[in-house]
Amino acid sequence: MAFYLDADAFFTSSLPFGLTFDDLSLATRYSEVLPRETNLSVALSPSLNLQIPVISSDMDTVTESKMAIQMALNGGIGLVHYNMPDEAQVKEVARVKNHIHGFIQEPIKVSPTQKIGEILDRVEKRGFRFSTFPVVGDDNRLLGLLSGSVVRERYRDRLVSEAMTPRAQVFTLHEREIRENPIAAADRFFTEHMGIHKLLIVDDSDKLRGLFTLSDIERIGEESRRMVKPARDAKLRLVCGAAISPHRLADGTLDRDRIVSHVGRLLDEGLDAVAVSTAHGFSKGVGDAVRLVREAFPDLAIIAGNVTCGEGVEFLAEAGANCIKVGQGPGSICTTRIVAGVGIPQMTALYVASRAAAKIGVKTIADGGIAKSGDMVKALTLADAVICGGLLAGCNEAPGRIIEIGGKLYKQYRGMGSREAMKEGSAARYGHERKDATTKAAPEGIEALKEAAGPLDIVLGELIGGVQSGMGYLGARDLATLRKNALYTRVTPAGQRESAPHDVLTVTTSKEASESTRV
Ligand code: XMP
Repeated sequence: MAFYLDADAFFTSSLPFGLTFDDLSLATRYSEVLPRETNLSVALSPSLNLQIPVISSDMDTVTESKMAIQMALNGGIGLVHYNMPDEAQVKEVARVKNHIHGFIQEPIKVSPTQKIGEILDRVEKRGFRFSTFPVVGDDNRLLGLLSGSVVRERYRDRLVSEAMTPRAQVFTLHEREIRENPIAAADRFFTEHMGIHKLLIVDDSDKLRGLFTLSDIERIGEESRRMVKPARDAKLRLVCGAAISPHRLADGTLDRDRIVSHVGRLLDEGLDAVAVSTAHGFSKGVGDAVRLVREAFPDLAIIAGNVTCGEGVEFLAEAGANCIKVGQGPGSICTTRIVAGVGIPQMTALYVASRAAAKIGVKTIADGGIAKSGDMVKALTLADAVICGGLLAGCNEAPGRIIEIGGKLYKQYRGMGSREAMKEGSAARYGHERKDATTKAAPEGIEALKEAAGPLDIVLGELIGGVQSGMGYLGARDLATLRKNALYTRVTPAGQRESAPHDVLTVTTSKEASESTRV
């Protein structure tokens, strides 16, 4: 057994080489654990608990409110990026914190003066998969419900007002009646009202506040049976994080007022974690920003980085960070190592950082370079959680449109240090000024495309399935045991070839082909 080494022996014996995911493999251990019995929960701070150790990256092509909502529904957390005005970021966070799963807060509405033909054209153009719509007046007061059964070509010239079910016959609940437990209230309503598929929610003035559909409520019931547990705060709201930039004044000092007032507004919306995200966390400016936020908000979970050395971990922990982001240059769109010649292969960086973090009792997060579920397992033998950018950028919930090229579907994915992203605000993350982003600053990231990957819960489900398999192989029921049981071996280039499919012609089944274009 001594042939396979534990982390201390393995990484020390590999000196002076830095190793990354494909340079090593994990040894299997005696196991009584089935993958489905594993527990992936992690506490990143006294107030921030996740059901899965996965975080979506604070990048402008990865995390806005849609991604953050789905991440939290699946048990992880999203970090909303900061390449947008402060006000817009506060709104994005508010959307996540106010999200009620299954409750459509801004349903598509129609007006009584529209013709059915206009509705048909809109359904076609926007690709709606439903054709029943609430009918409201200019003041958003509910006037009726346009049922899908009348949204037909033969009624194209008729007015919505003639075709709709009038208000008196439309089923509604007052928002007060669903406040306690919205899903249970909607579920009960649909059971009691056989054949009704839509439940509209109104306020005191009979203004439309949202709607539930029977199919969403049934899907949520199935999800809870599948044991996907959302990550929630103490008030049962979905968790949400946001990245902030260490803004500076013209004289180069930190813009303390702007930073504190912005974080304060994010906290008013219920923010659970703030990430001070920069390319070089072991630096005075980042330390000062972390210290400032910690002094102003003693209980807030602070994630800070990025570093790749033990001293960097100690420095940020001492400034007040709870979780330290580890990774310089491993990201799929990063060019830091090429441009600046710096950075450490990710598994070595994680080893060094995790040893310093364990001594002082802070958490580490592996940020960048994770391309498959096996990399997640390897990262989690050293770090407490992982951040994913490229793996999630092709999902429906990532910002940006789907582009078709040669019959294949793609989404844009770009480094926050790419020229275009820096122009939109992320220059400070790389130690540059926004006005210099077009000329003086050397970009440290590229603009790229990712194949469209479909809904996040399917992508994440497959990744988590892989992590659970890894834990089963290592006899680890939870993440702490995974870290304890990990034994490593070096992999040579021949070993890497052996690790992937080889000496066969790969065939794509029709199911895989259709999944690769799923939207
Ligand atoms: P993956 O491999 O998940 O990496 O796509 C995402 C992580 O990469 C970092 N990041 C960058 N690093 N130049 C860099 O050197 C960049 O332009 C850049 N943009 C993002 C970031 O830590 C992210 O979470």
